[in-house]
Amino acid sequence: MSSIGGCWWVLWILALVLHRANPEFLQWSQGEHCASMICATDTEQCTDYRDCGSECTEVEICKTTNSGAAESIKIVIVGAGSVGVTTAYALLLDGLASDIVLIDIDKNRALGEVMDLSHAAHFAQARVRVGDYEDCVDAAAVIITAGVNQKPGQTRLDLVKTNYALFQDIVPRIAKFAPETILVVATNPVDVLTHAAHQLSGFPVERVIGSGTAMDTTRFRHELGKHFGVNPRNVHAMIVGEHGDSQLPVWSLATISGMRLKDYCEQAGHEYSQPALEDCAKRTKEAAYEIIQRKGKTNYGVASVLVDVLRPIITHSDAIMTVSRVGTYGGVEDVALSMPCMLNRHGAYQDVPLLLNDREKGALRQSALGVKGVISKL
Ligand SMILES: NC(=O)c1ccc[n+]([C@@H]2O[C@H](COP(=O)([O-])OP(=O)(O)OC[C@H]3O[C@@H](n4cnc5c(N)ncnc54)[C@H](O)[C@@H]3O)[C@@H](O)[C@H]2O)c1
Repeated sequence: MSSIGGCWWVLWILALVLHRANPEFLQWSQGEHCASMICATDTEQCTDYRDCGSECTEVEICKTTNSGAAESIKIVIVGAGSVGVTTAYALLLDGLASDIVLIDIDKNRALGEVMDLSHAAHFAQARVRVGDYEDCVDAAAVIITAGVNQKPGQTRLDLVKTNYALFQDIVPRIAKFAPETILVVATNPVDVLTHAAHQLSGFPVERVIGSGTAMDTTRFRHELGKHFGVNPRNVHAMIVGEHGDSQLPVWSLATISGMRLKDYCEQAGHEYSQPALEDCAKRTKEAAYEIIQRKGKTNYGVASVLVDVLRPIITHSDAIMTVSRVGTYGGVEDVALSMPCMLNRHGAYQDVPLLLNDREKGALRQSALGVKGVISKL
């Protein structure tokens, strides 16, 4: 009997210590749901957002658990369209951020998305809300997904005039409130707009990151994984250059299980077919066109890639990714293109120059000249 009593004492002291270390421990462990909405008519906080009707300006959902929540990590997403909202959802489920803010010129749309997302937030560990540019203060990163999308048959470069004009408005407003943040650009044409965001913000190159060919590299690994019958994570192969039609696969450095593709085929008894590999690269380049032809947009892949770009920024983990940043590529100065880059809390802070063969060097130069040509006409 006395040993049972002793156990209760130990448990009680443990709970007290945990509560001291983190006062919200007991509240969270009870799974308390702190949904609230601030009404425009008065600032009274409603306990049930349905009471607020159409006057609501903000939805907040507090953390409901204490496991693995990212403390005080604010991520702002400018553009609550398809890409922005899917990114918010991916981020919410991932648990990397504690505060996700959506900014959109169409406030009503953003609010509708946030109301919907807040129901998903119930199962996650972040709050999601509609905001304005003042809310960029102290953001770990601001993702820009605002802008027009490709219509079937359009190239990414066809979007440049409209989306550059939006950037002239958006980027200085972000920079005003968050001069130390990291900009992550997803709007197309992403390389041209990464260059524009660098100029318009005045931020150093490492703090302006374009999602670039991180998406294409993922697609390429997916295609090669399917072709060779291995998990894409075991395929080390990259697409570099423009996130667009002049992108290039780096065949000379592609490996599976540490072996060049030809060697892997020999060792694994897999047929090596150059035309089949070229098909993988072609499907990679044309994937977005085909998806847009079929469903009008791409959103899931890019959202997952954007969360993957944020991960080393938030966790300071020195990941290497093919992202776009301003630099000199193929001898072409002051252009933004994707090459492998080290990412951490300081942004895309270091290039990892690749040992390309002569053919690849030539293709990279052509890609850089193409993007530079568009930049110089802005
Ligand atoms: N980098 C990539 O891999 C990748 C992949 C897919 C799409 N994209 C690009 O992302 C962009 C957005 O695509 P989407 O499918 O989300 O489009 P969408 O039309 O669904 O959303 C765009 C959103 O931007 C908002 N917006 C427009 N002007 C704004 C402004 N001045 N300030 C704030 N918000 C504004 C609109 O109201 C809309 O909600 C496009 O340029 C598209 O080409 C990039």
